Amino acid sequence: MAFALGQLSLDSNLFLSPLAGYTNLPFRLIIREIGGVGLCTTDLVNARSLLEKNRKALQLIQTRPQDRPLAVQLYGSVPEEMRDAAALLESLGVSSVDINMGCPVRKICRNGGGSSMMADHAKAARLVGTMVAAVKIPITAKMRLGWDNKNLTAPDLARALEDAGVAAVAIHGRTRQQGFSGSVNLAGIRAVVQALNRTPVIGNGDITTPQAAKMMFDQTGCAAISIGRGAFYNPWIFRHVAHFLSTGELPPEPGFEERIVVMKRHLDLMVEVFGEARGCRMFRKVALQYSRTLGPAKEFHKLVVRLSTRAGFDDILAVYRTWRAQFLDENQHLFPQYEPRQPGMTVEPAAAVKVPAGPNELW
Ligand SMILES: Cc1cc2nc3c(=O)[nH]c(=O)nc-3n(C[C@H](O)[C@H](O)[C@H](O)COP(=O)(O)O)c2cc1C
Repeated sequence: MAFALGQLSLDSNLFLSPLAGYTNLPFRLIIREIGGVGLCTTDLVNARSLLEKNRKALQLIQTRPQDRPLAVQLYGSVPEEMRDAAALLESLGVSSVDINMGCPVRKICRNGGGSSMMADHAKAARLVGTMVAAVKIPITAKMRLGWDNKNLTAPDLARALEDAGVAAVAIHGRTRQQGFSGSVNLAGIRAVVQALNRTPVIGNGDITTPQAAKMMFDQTGCAAISIGRGAFYNPWIFRHVAHFLSTGELPPEPGFEERIVVMKRHLDLMVEVFGEARGCRMFRKVALQYSRTLGPAKEFHKLVVRLSTRAGFDDILAVYRTWRAQFLDENQHLFPQYEPRQPGMTVEPAAAVKVPAGPNELW
């Protein structure tokens, strides 16, 4: 469904969440080529590093005309830096800027004072206001529900940001204390939707199937959703969700050959963007995700974890095809006992996508 993010018209209200270490240019292009996604977000980028033209920060915002509409997620606590970084991104043609709000109320837990929470919210609102005033592109904010179940402060923070002019608020329906454990609290997201008068909410967390996407919309009243781990696990998810939401039917899963074509295209893009050695190294964890839906893949795993050249991948596929033939019937279908579990049906993607070391206290 079409979606208006401030002045920006998007074809779809299904978004790709930021996943540090994963949502790089090749992955975003693959997601877009498969279709169904309305807005892709980069990994989080430090505002100061960007202003200092740090090489790593610039690589995180590396893009192409086909990589649109694109949101860049910024983090930083100095309002002037966040403002200038947003202006820089606007001048580079980025479609919108997302602010990583992390945990809304860290301080309240440390100091135990309600006033610090209010101070935090006012500070966050000032930060948003400064950025909104400096650019024309939409500014969005992404946050968790709060510190813990006793401090579900997202509705208050979201309201403060609404007054400051934020174009949308994305909510990961977990508390900071939960980390990535347990499941998303849809009622918690609904409370944020209800707290806002005019600002759309982007519901986020645990959307790994079309049915889970529908549940997020139905039970929270959110205007858009964003998908993180489920997309890395299954890049077809946006197309499938769009189909399910408009027809009520689950589309067929892509077959083996289609998965191989997409996997090879993904590797080609990794090599184009990162160079052959690095692209191949980075592709190893990507290939492991794709392989989860190929049926028996022990031989593939063994070889792909040492991938170092593009041509080497074709050799790996040739060896793998020969090995895999033992699991196929005369029609080249896997014997039923070897059928992969379909994406999002039974496998838990939360376990499939590792949360890397890094500033993940922010997410
Ligand atoms: C590996 C990994 C990296 C992440 N990186 C970011 C990030 O850079 N910025 C952010 O706001 N959230 C980040 N998140 C949180 C996700 O955007 C998302 O809120 C969370 O994973 C829940 O959504 P999901 O169940 O669809 O993955 C990350 C999560 C994971 C697992």
